[in-house]
Amino acid sequence: MNFSIIVALDQKRGIGINNKLPWNIKADLKHFSDITINPSNDKQNVVIMGRKTWESLPQSRQPLPQRLNIVLSKQTDLSLPPNVLLYSSLNRALIALEERKKEIKEIFIIGGGKLYAETIYHPQCSKIYITQILQTFPCDTFFPEIPKNFKKIEESEIQEENKIKFRFIVYEKSN
Ligand SMILES: NC(=O)c1ccc[n+]([C@@H]2O[C@H](COP(=O)([O-])OP(=O)(O)OC[C@H]3O[C@@H](n4cnc5c(N)ncnc54)[C@H](OP(=O)(O)O)[C@@H]3O)[C@@H](O)[C@H]2O)c1
Repeated sequence: MNFSIIVALDQKRGIGINNKLPWNIKADLKHFSDITINPSNDKQNVVIMGRKTWESLPQSRQPLPQRLNIVLSKQTDLSLPPNVLLYSSLNRALIALEERKKEIKEIFIIGGGKLYAETIYHPQCSKIYITQILQTFPCDTFFPEIPKNFKKIEESEIQEENKIKFRFIVYEKSN
């Protein structure tokens, strides 16, 4: 199965600081839910995240509701809620999902920096949903450069919240 990446990044491709998001944009959190949740009950969407991104989620959002949550970590004794799956590599997770593909609609990589860098060149990565924030924030974690074989297929109007301007962009792999 192919998968998509979803990310919010600033003008310098910054995505995080001190294991948190650098900004607070409610419209982006809504966009994230709208894209990653399958509203129909037939099949579930999957969100795959690195261990640090899992730890950055508020307890009330662990796991992210209405999605199958997968955490990647080399630690075998990581304590996770029973409905959250742990895998030691992306490919192990993708193989397990392939076996359950009748139950699954879409797969999203939701961060963070380490996982994005490992997945953006993966052959099964077919789409990137970007919230482009039109200013720069102090960041210690960054998104990789978008490979040349991804082409922009959608771009929203510029929106604004708390004086922060942003827009939603979708890239698709062209070959
Ligand atoms: N702006 C956004 O859209 C966005 C989205 C998500 C996260 N973030 C931000 O990104 C930051 C976190 O990113 P990060 O780069 O520090 O950490 P991360 O990618 O979330 O997690 C890194 C950890 O995940 C595990 N991991 C990652 N790839 C793996 C793989 N292929 N196989 C097995 N384990 C793997 C490892 O865990 P172990 O060390 O346990 O082995 C690794 O140390 C935070 O600031 C967060 O807020 C931003």
